[in-house]
Parts: sequence; structure tokens; C-alpha cells
Amino acid sequence: MPSIRLFFLVTLLAAIVLAAPTKSKRTKLSKRSFKVPRSLNPKHPRGLNGMDAMRKVYMKYNFKGGFIAATKNSESENSGAVISAINSTNGTGTVAALPEENAALFLSPVNIGGQTLNLDFDSGSSDLWVFSTGLPQRAIGGHSAFDPQKSTSFKLMQGAQFSITYGDNSGAAGLVGTDTVDIGGVVVENQAVELATAVSRSFVQDTNTDGLVGLAFNQLNTVNNGVQKTPQKTFFDNVMNDLDLPVFTADLDPDGTGVYEFGKIDTTKFTGEMAWIPVNSSSGFWQFDSASFAIDGQVQDNPAASPAIADTGTSLLLVDQQVADAYYSQVQGAENNAQVGGFIYPCDTQLPDISVAIGSDYMATIPGNQITFAAVDQANTTCFGGVQGNGGAGLQIYGDTMFKSQFVAFNGGNQSLGFGAKPTQ
Ligand SMILES: *[C@@H]1O[C@H](CO)[C@@H](O)[C@H](O)[C@H]1NC(C)=O
Ligand SMILES: *[C@@H]1O[C@H](CO)[C@@H](O)[C@H](O)[C@H]1NC(C)=O
Ligand SMILES: *[C@@H]1O[C@H](CO)[C@@H](O)[C@H](O)[C@H]1NC(C)=O
Ligand SMILES: *[C@@H]1O[C@H](CO)[C@@H](O)[C@H](O)[C@H]1NC(C)=O
Ligand SMILES: *[C@@H]1O[C@H](CO)[C@@H](O)[C@H](O)[C@H]1NC(C)=O
Repeated sequence: MPSIRLFFLVTLLAAIVLAAPTKSKRTKLSKRSFKVPRSLNPKHPRGLNGMDAMRKVYMKYNFKGGFIAATKNSESENSGAVISAINSTNGTGTVAALPEENAALFLSPVNIGGQTLNLDFDSGSSDLWVFSTGLPQRAIGGHSAFDPQKSTSFKLMQGAQFSITYGDNSGAAGLVGTDTVDIGGVVVENQAVELATAVSRSFVQDTNTDGLVGLAFNQLNTVNNGVQKTPQKTFFDNVMNDLDLPVFTADLDPDGTGVYEFGKIDTTKFTGEMAWIPVNSSSGFWQFDSASFAIDGQVQDNPAASPAIADTGTSLLLVDQQVADAYYSQVQGAENNAQVGGFIYPCDTQLPDISVAIGSDYMATIPGNQITFAAVDQANTTCFGGVQGNGGAGLQIYGDTMFKSQFVAFNGGNQSLGFGAKPTQ
């Protein structure tokens, strides 16, 4: 697909243009491993609905999908251009004026220059960006916004800017500086922090967090100096070598809460041996091959398999369309519903297990009873699957539907992923 190819091309070019990242100083780490809770967003009125979850992942990866409403004058707006501030329809611009149902569900506390923000840890991107007081008040709404003037350690990076845009020209953009960032008691001085001074309406509609902590490889980082890309190191890049192990682990529970742990692999959290597979980081993602799948243990090849990535920032398990089609052909009453934007089925249907290959030696199995993402209607009669197709976009995105049943270690030292099956609940 042209869109995803272009996306890769852009990220590859970004990787080729080498620019000096800021030197970040670490205080000698007093903790060589640390945990960060992931909790439910209390401002979130109800779960993400399936269509929102699909739209979010399609937008994040610039996939084309018929059901994604084109919001703005996308023809005239140039990609990377400054994004208009949020237009709240009733003029007061309070956050309640915006649809909140797309809000990110899961938040983890991060302290930046003495200010605590709730950020989403995202292994599918590499920018640490936050809502800032440089945004119009109506755009900030109920978010906590970082105020650089109230931080004694913030330093503006002259001329640097960041801009994250999506297929429909939504996104976030702004200034860049460095500050002291404390996550779980581990402190990095001079961590690059990106301050949004513009966010698109649809971006905010898709995430009600105060920002993101990107945990993918730094060639995906969008910081530039106005002339060329100057990718900044992620928080994980900066702490990795001072930890007991250069890893972070995602232990996400079926209800979506859970724990990120840095520096340590807690072997009590999974059964059996951890399976390790090397990642291909050339695109900046935690990427691996996934060329087969199984339905209730019946293994099938996916000869035209797209590469897969492990993404804690995506709710769904987005597989190649032919895999989703094969899976739902085994689900009684399932249909791919264009209006809802994906596969739905009667909530009382018994779903088979699905397994997806992680490299060539391990299959991650998601039990049938952990696949439903959400009900589509109030009465809970029709459900939206947590496994969906990628519409031929050329990348499989393995998100929370998979993490609920898999304990996953991200190893930045030897660039590999470790998978362990979580005990069935
Ligand atoms: C905001 O959006 C509404 C409806 O979409 C539109 O009528 C109005 O002109 C917009 N206001 C501004 C200031 O852009
Ligand atoms: C605008 O929205 C806010 C937040 O929902 C609400 O409190 C306020 O009453 C609304 N104002 C009008 C004029 O509708
Ligand atoms: C990476 O390191 C882990 C230990 O942290 C080791 O168990 C694993 O075999 C290594 N994986 C690869 C692909 O080298
Ligand atoms: C790594 O990924 C890139 C981009 O997806 C791909 O072009 C390349 O062939 C892959 N390399 C290997 C060894 O699989
Ligand atoms: C539908 O499911 C939700 C979440 O599990 C629950 O809170 C609600 O009561 C259910 N509604 C009905 C009508 O069963």
C-alpha cells in the first residue's frame, strides 16, 4: 500500500540523516529497576468503542480505511504544517465539550520538572510529548498541561520543533526542550521533552491523556531543527544502560491496568520459559516476522504475511486481513460491518482461541474469552472483536488484545522481544 510505504520511506530517511541528539545527563541511578503502574483513566466515562479503537490505530499508522471520516480540508493542508487548535463547538472549550469516549483508557504518572502528568506509554512511537500551557486554554480543557515557566530545570532547545501527523493531517506539533524527567523514581536530566502548542481536534478526540512516552527506537522521533531531522533519545534510551537489565516489560491485565517494569524481568509473571526473538528495528518499531497463525490450535500459514510490531499504545490485535477473515469465518454470526468499522458478532457467541506467530519458534495464544473488545450496543447483544484486519495496509499491529495474555519483555540491549504466556485467569 502506498501510504504505509511512504511512511516507512519517511522514517528510513529520518534514520539516515544522522544528527547529534542532546546529551542527557543521568544522575547515578539509585534504583536499577523500577515499576510504573498503568491505571484506568478516571476521566474516561466508558470504554473506547470499537470504531474509535479502529480509527485510532488506522490513523496512528496512516492506514487508509473507508470508514474513517475525513475531517478537514485535507487537500490544501500540507503534511507537517501547523495544525489548527481545537475548535470547541460551543465556544467555552471545556474538555467536556469534546467527545470523551475516545479518551485513552490507561495512564501512568510521569514527573517532568516537578509537574506530574499522566502519560500513555507507547511502544509504537518515540516522542515524549505533552500538553503544554502554550496551547489555547480551550484546547487544554481538563488536561494537565506542562508549564515550562514553572520548571526551574526546563531549557528550550533553540529552533527545535516536533510534529506528529497522521494520514488525515491530524496530529500534534510544538516546541522542544529538555527537562528533568522522573519516572518511577528514576531520574533523567536533560531528557528531550516536546511541548505541544498545537493539537488537532481529532487528535484530542482520540486521546485524552496529557501526552505520550514513546518507547520505540529513536529513529521514529520527529524532532527537527527546521532543516533536518534531529531525532532525540527516548527516556528508555537514556536509562537503559544503567539498569540491571536493558529491558522494560509490559504486564497488562485483562482489564487493561497493569505494570510497566524497567530493568528487571519478573519470572513469576509468566509460565514456562521466556521465548526470545530478535527484532528488526530498521523501521524504528519493535518489529518481527509473524507468518503463521492458529485457530483453536490449528496452525495455518500466512504466506503473504506483513511484518508485525508490538505496540502497547494500540488497543486491538490488528492482523493481516486474510488472517482476520479466516478467524471470523470460524465465529458463528460474525460479519465485517462497514458501518462499525470491523468484525462484530453476537456477544453470546463462543469464540475460538487465536494464536499468532512471534518469529518462527513461538506462538502467542489469546484465549477466545479474552478476544471481545467491547459491546457495540447498550444491551450488550452485539460485540466488537479485539482482533481486526489491517485492510491490506502491510503491517500487523499487535496491541493490548495480545498483551492481556502475554507478558512481554522489550530488550534494548540485544534488540529482542521476550514472550511468556501469562497464567490463565
Ligand atoms: C467551529 O466549528 C463549528 C462547527 O464545526 C463552525 O461552525 C465554526 O465556524 C467553527 N469556529 C471556528 C472559530 O473555527
Ligand atoms: C459548553 O460546554 C460546557 C462543557 O460541556 C458546558 O458546561 C456549558 O454549559 C456549554 N455552554 C453552552 C452555551 O452550551
Ligand atoms: C537477549 O538477551 C536475553 C537476556 O536478557 C537473552 O535471554 C536472549 O537470548 C537474547 N536474545 C537474543 C535474540 O539474542
Ligand atoms: C527489516 O525491516 C525492513 C523494513 O520493514 C525490511 O525492508 C528489511 O528487509 C527487514 N530486514 C530483515 C533482515 O528482515
Ligand atoms: C453491558 O456490559 C457492561 C460492561 O460489562 C455492563 O456495565 C452493563 O451493565 C451491561 N449492560 C447490560 C444491559 O447487560
